[in-house]
Amino acid sequence: MQHTRIRLNDHIQMPGRRALTRALVAAPLAMGLSRLQAAPAHKPIVIQFSHVVTPDTAKGQAALRFKALAESRTGGRVQIEVYPNSTLYKDREELDALKIGAVQMLAPSLSKLAKVGGGDFEAFDLPFLFKDAAAMRAVIDSPVGASLLGKLQASGIKGLAYWDNGFKVFTANRPLQSIADFRALRIRVQASRVLVEQMKTLGSVPSVSPLIEVYQALKDGKLDGQENTPSNIVTQRLHEVQSHMTVSNHGYLAYAVIVNQAFWEKLPADIRSALEGALHDATIYANGIAASENARALEQIRSTGRLAIYKPSAQELAAWRTALMPVYRQSSGWIDPAMLAAIQAQARIPP
Ligand code: LMR
Repeated sequence: MQHTRIRLNDHIQMPGRRALTRALVAAPLAMGLSRLQAAPAHKPIVIQFSHVVTPDTAKGQAALRFKALAESRTGGRVQIEVYPNSTLYKDREELDALKIGAVQMLAPSLSKLAKVGGGDFEAFDLPFLFKDAAAMRAVIDSPVGASLLGKLQASGIKGLAYWDNGFKVFTANRPLQSIADFRALRIRVQASRVLVEQMKTLGSVPSVSPLIEVYQALKDGKLDGQENTPSNIVTQRLHEVQSHMTVSNHGYLAYAVIVNQAFWEKLPADIRSALEGALHDATIYANGIAASENARALEQIRSTGRLAIYKPSAQELAAWRTALMPVYRQSSGWIDPAMLAAIQAQARIPP
């Protein structure tokens, strides 16, 4: 069957970074749109959904669930191509690709969305902000969550849903029990100024890099440690190249499912509504399995016996929390204090 690839930029006939580079040089938006309008109705509309984790993570499974629901509910009028594990684009590239319409759908972490939606997205990275996943959900399900997604529109991006991952832990090539243990360690973080400040405050040297490069950098000794959820650690095999893990649960990792807004608005209304329904159900699925996927991953890591796993005491965590409080002050330069207050109110965090 012939496929119709609805893209805003028709220079991009093949997926990938080379195509993105070309497209970035010349992005004839108008031409892409006119092709969209001219697309014959009988050819399926192709939606490329790129993400940076493996298919067996909660996000990976939810993307496949969305694909199955979307394709069946549109009776084959839409075809969803899911590209997992950075096979199409790495962390930063995928956002550039979405903006120009070289890819239509992503689910990046909120940490990475400041680049296109402003600094408020980094509030979710503040250390020890949420006491549990329910507190985080209370925020994203509230008008505060909706208003944050609205900030993406200035970059031509529409935010459709939030997907959970879970709490992050630290791994390193030495034990991490007290703050002093972090001194001078090169720790990988996502592209978020809050996460950079967090590591500096702990005395480490933060290193921002794409997820797909972390395994090799740890293996080669170019990095000493990293922070992520157990699910991302096990599926990227990071536990194989680290000797210690501290179950700190110091920060939360969540995602927004986002689309190129012009592409989305050009879809026939019945298709768009079927896709919204499919995404609604995939979101319930994603958020229903995230916690159990992380618990399973932690057990899997434990059962390999490859890592010494440390669970900090309540007292130690209180010391970490106190040590990390300056990050809140430092980030007030780019996180609107009113937004932070609204997030804290929704999460029922006392001021
Ligand atoms: C990371 O870069 O560590 C995460 O954002 C990856 C992901 O999508 O979970």
